[in-house]
Parts: sequence; structure tokens; C-alpha cells
Amino acid sequence: MSTKDPAPGASKDPAERVEELRAQIAYHNQKYHQEDAPEVSDADFDALMRELRAIEEEHPDLATADSPTQQVGSAPLVLFASVAHRVPMMSLDNAFDLDELQAWVDRIARIDPAVVGADFQCELKIDGLAMSLTYEDGRFIQAATRGDGTTGEDVTHNVATVRSIPHTLSWPKGRGPVPKVIEVRGEVYMPVTAFEELNRRQLEAGLKIFANPRNSAAGSLRQKDASVTATRELSMWAYQVGALEGGPELHSQSEALSLLRDCGLPVNPEIKVVHGVDEVFALCTYWRDHRHDLDYEIDGVVVKVDDLALQRRLGATSHAPRWAIALKFPPEERTTTLLRIMVSIGRTGRATPFAVLEPVFVGGSTVGLATLHNEDQVRLKDVRPGDTVVVRKAGDVIPEVVGPVLSARKRSSRPWHFPKVCPSCGEPLIRLEGESDTFCTNIECPAQRVQRIVHFASRGAMDIEGLGEKRVVQIVEAGLVSDPGDIYALEAESLVAIERMGALSVENLLRAIEESKSRPLSRVLVGLGIRHLGPTGARALARAYGTLEAVTAVSVEELAAVEGIGSVIAESVVDFLASAGNRAVLDKLIAAGFTLAEPGGATRAVAEAASGGDTKGEDALILSGKSIVVTGTLESHTREEAEEAILGLGGKSPGSVSKKTWAVVVGAEPGAAKLRKAEGLGIPIVDGSKFEELLSTGEIPD
Ligand code: IVH
Repeated sequence: MSTKDPAPGASKDPAERVEELRAQIAYHNQKYHQEDAPEVSDADFDALMRELRAIEEEHPDLATADSPTQQVGSAPLVLFASVAHRVPMMSLDNAFDLDELQAWVDRIARIDPAVVGADFQCELKIDGLAMSLTYEDGRFIQAATRGDGTTGEDVTHNVATVRSIPHTLSWPKGRGPVPKVIEVRGEVYMPVTAFEELNRRQLEAGLKIFANPRNSAAGSLRQKDASVTATRELSMWAYQVGALEGGPELHSQSEALSLLRDCGLPVNPEIKVVHGVDEVFALCTYWRDHRHDLDYEIDGVVVKVDDLALQRRLGATSHAPRWAIALKFPPEERTTTLLRIMVSIGRTGRATPFAVLEPVFVGGSTVGLATLHNEDQVRLKDVRPGDTVVVRKAGDVIPEVVGPVLSARKRSSRPWHFPKVCPSCGEPLIRLEGESDTFCTNIECPAQRVQRIVHFASRGAMDIEGLGEKRVVQIVEAGLVSDPGDIYALEAESLVAIERMGALSVENLLRAIEESKSRPLSRVLVGLGIRHLGPTGARALARAYGTLEAVTAVSVEELAAVEGIGSVIAESVVDFLASAGNRAVLDKLIAAGFTLAEPGGATRAVAEAASGGDTKGEDALILSGKSIVVTGTLESHTREEAEEAILGLGGKSPGSVSKKTWAVVVGAEPGAAKLRKAEGLGIPIVDGSKFEELLSTGEIPD
């Protein structure tokens, strides 16, 4: 199909054609996103979307909220649309102890004495993301994030995949007609068990793990592609009625929540109406001690005046209602002994120090290991083997060593020094100037070898079930494999000799290995672990050129001009393919029967033939020549994804700030030195939440 041809269904009844197009688009979306087996080129897919959009514009009665044209993320790097909240989404004031709680009650009792003796509704303070759901005539039509409280982002299509959120309200009989508009507010969260499972998968796939369930919920909701959100287990607790038009008159918060529950919305079962501050405080103490009995994270108790008329009389300050307060739990901290500091070697050779702790129960789980990130972090925290250390988990599921208890430090204690040589191969470890990471650069290093094979077999790459780290260590130690290509020469006879590998496991493993030969080129490229090339870039390359052979035949400049690649990734790909060692691995894959092709790929080769080889130069990429430093954790991207996105748009993403830096993107827990330097040099600092905006516009967001 060519985009220049007249639309195949142009003469058809528009309503019929719309249905047909939506079905085709849904089918191709499924093939592309879920099965990794696209059947049409990007251009052909775009043509279907364009035709659908044109018909919908001409016949607005045929446009529906669930049309793929309305899907968030149908086009890459489009920002989420803005949504103006009908009623502002305010935040809450906090109290941290009984005195502060009492002070709040006294304050509001001075405004309205009816507060004395009033009922308080106590609710768990769910640690997730505030969400506004709009139902019109009982039908779910929109979901928006809180944003700045006045304007949020439209995440309807992502939220529509959350199973516990009804698409139609079961409006109870006896409560009058279904309201014209009812806005339901609540917290979207990821259950702790789902979060742990997701991180397990991320780890297996060699992807960066999420810091806590809140971050993973945020990352899952900010997906441009709702089918990714659909794979993430999200849920919601509704806690408030926002705008209400044409609905029944509500008298109390507790009545509002029972109505929401009757409508089929998920309302937390632990809500309770209590009387007086002592009862409120007792409830809060109970939940502080029992918070980990729940499969979702809470960070306090929200106390609300139950009577809505009294709420209205109390009103709000500029940012928070006076009728509610959040009683926050103190962060959880425990002390334990730091037994040893060790260094692990990743597949790229990065040497990461970590603390081996006397196991301690904190934040709902037993912690025995905690990353120390890099050499500077160990020095900054001044933690030493043998120290008593404070371990914290404040909402974060990843434990952190806060620092040593200096009063308990032994006289004999000595600072820890980063090892000079790799703990696996004994070769020197290298730390480049201006970089915070240290590397083992020995390509033959057994630890790197193991990690490279683990990465190749991981879920995001070849997805070979049964080939996790433990097994890879066994087969590498047995001398059966030394690079990913060797996996395909494994035989049953040698595998059965390996400890704990019965005939059935061997059979299953060999079947999984055989199946993995059909993976598309993009997944092979991910598995090979080419520096800077992540899943997005790998897919862009594979779709553009179709086969590895075609990728190998083009120049750095041509590769760099592919949207999502840029010169740094292009150079890295070309270097990788030029290495004899890497070619040998690829030859093993070809000999094993790999086609190294992307179904539906080669869009670029075709386009070039049609346009006389006219390629867009890298100068056309919006971050060309711009150097962007990312520091701290972003909610929307892992570090690798952020780097790949910048490089893919022609930019650079060095590890340190200099005069040449164009912008510094700041996430959670940023490097203080980088920030200070950026401020000193007058370099624009961009809030992490605006990173997507920077990527889509190529400009510094306001
Ligand atoms: S009521 C105007 N109830 O806490 C009152 N908020 O720190 C709005 N939250 O933005 C909030 N659980 O995201 C309310 N049961 C609950 C809550 C809750 C969690 C979050 C909410 C809000 C934040 C304020």
C-alpha cells in the first residue's frame, strides 16, 4: 500500500469505513506493541490513522473518545493534552504529632465552634498519584492527573486500562437520576506485590528498577502507549467527589464515599468516622504499626471534617482545605551493622559498591543488601565496614544507607577504599575524570561475560525462560558458553551434567532457546547490549532498515539521521558491528538460523528508493549540538532511557556539568555538586517533570 494511493475505502459509507479503519488500526497496534511482529510499515500505519482522522474531522458525530485518534501516544513524543480541572485539586496540610493535630482542631474550631464535637472521617493516606475521573451520564469520559492543581494532564487512555475503575457507573436506584457530571477523585497506586513483580521483570530484562511503588505507578501512567500501561497492575482508591452536576445533594464525606462504593468505584474499606483528636490519634498509631499489613503503601492518615456544610463554612487557604489534614507517619529507620562493602560488576563493566548488612526488618521487608551507588557516595556518607548504620525506607521500597552512627564507631575503624582491581578478573578498574562511575574495561572479564549473557537472554531481549543469572553462572563456569552466540550450540548431553538440571529442565531450556531464534532484529539488537542503544533506538533502527545486513551497509551519517538514533548511538552501532569479536557472535547467531530481520521493517530503505535517497541530515534532529546533563531519578525515564532519548534526538548526555552544558534536567535526589555547578555557570535547570516537554520541543521549558 502506498500513501499516495487514493484511500481504499474512499467511496464507502463513512461510518462503515471508520469501523473498518479502527479494526485495522487495533490489529496493527496489537501486532506492533504486544507481539513485536508488525506487518505494515510505519508509513502505511500512519496512512490508516490519517484517513481515520480526516473522516472524523469531516463527520464529528463519528468521533468517539475511544477512537485510536484520541489515544495518548499514538504519535511519539506528543505531550499529554492539558485538562483544566472544574474544581481545583488542592493539596493537604500536614501534622506530624498529636500536638500539631490538636493545634489544627483548635484553629478550625476558632473559625466555627461546631468543630468541637464534630465527626471526623479518617482515611488512609494512599501513597500514589492523585487522579480525577470524570463521568458524564454515568460513563467514564476522562481521567486527568493533578498537575499544578488547576491544570492536569489527560491520561484517559492509560487510566482506562485500570481494571478496578468502572467504565460505566452502576448508579444506585433511589438516588435520583444519574448525574450529568460527577468527578471522582482518588489515588492511583501500584500494589506492593505487583511492584515487586514488575521490578523482578525489569531486573531480568536488564532494565533499571523502580525506586518505589509510587514511582512505578507514575511511570506506568505516563506511558505514551496505553498498551504498556495495560501490562502494569494499577489500582485506585476513590476518596472524594469533586464537581457534581445534576446529582443528589450530599451531606457528609462518609455519605459521599458510600455512594461512590455503591456506584462500583473502589473505596477503601478502612475508612472510619471517629470523634475527637484522641480517637483520631489512636487510629493513626494503629496504622503506623500495621501499615505493612496492606498490599499498598500509605504514608499517614487523612482526617476530614465529615459534615459537608461545616466543610464549606471552613473553606480553604490558597493551597489546601481547612477542613482536612494529613497526619503523616515518621519515616521508618532502623540501625544495623554494615558487615562489608563489596563491588559488583555489570555487563558494561560498571563497578557498583554495595553494603552487605546484618539483615534488618525495615519498611515491611528484610534488608540485607543496599546499593551505595558509586565511590563518591561511599565517601560522602563516610560509611565503613563494621559501622553501625542507619537504614531507611521512607515510602521508598529500595533501602538506603542513610549514614553511620558515629557515636557507635569503633576506634579501629578505617575508611573503605574503592578497589583498584576488578573483583572478578583482577584487571585494573578505571574511573575517568569528571565521571562518577568506575569500570572494569576487560572485555574478557568473567563477571561481565555472565552479565552480557544474562542480558541477552532477558525478557526485553531474547526472553529465554530458564536462563537467569544462576544458570548462566553455571554454564559459563562449566565452559559451555562464553558469549551469547554459544547459547545456540548448547546440547542436552552437556547440560544434564550441570547441577540441579534434570532432563525436563534441559528439555524446557532447549525449547526456550530454539523459540528465541524467531525474535525480531530489534530484540536481538537490544540483547547484544550495544552501548547507548536501548529498546527505542533498536526498534527505530530495525524498522528503518529491516535487516542487520542493511544496517551494516550504511554509514554513520545515514544511521544518525534516523529519528531516535543521532550520531553518538550511530557511531556506537557502527563500532560494535566493526569489531571482529562481535562479528563472530553474530556469525554464530546466523549459523544457528537467525534471520536478523524485522518483520514489516525497511521503511527507510523503501522511502529512500522512492525519494532518490534523500535523507534528512542529523542537523534536522531537534537536540543537535545540545549537551544535556541528567541528574537524579526521573519518574518518566530510567537513566538509560533518558540518555537514549537525548542521544536519539541528536543531543549529548555527558555525566558532568561544564560550560558547554545546554541544560541540566533534575529528578529526585539530584547530585548536589552538579546542581551547584550548573547554578554557578548560569545553566538552565529543568525540572524532571518537564523532561518530556524538552524532548518534544527541543527547547527549555518555562
Ligand atoms: S483528600 C482537598 N484523601 O494526598 C483534599 N487525599 O498530600 C484533597 N491522598 O493530593 C485530598 N490519600 O493525592 C485525600 N484519602 C485521601 C488521600 C489523599 C492520599 C493524597 C492526594 C493529595 C495528597 C495531599
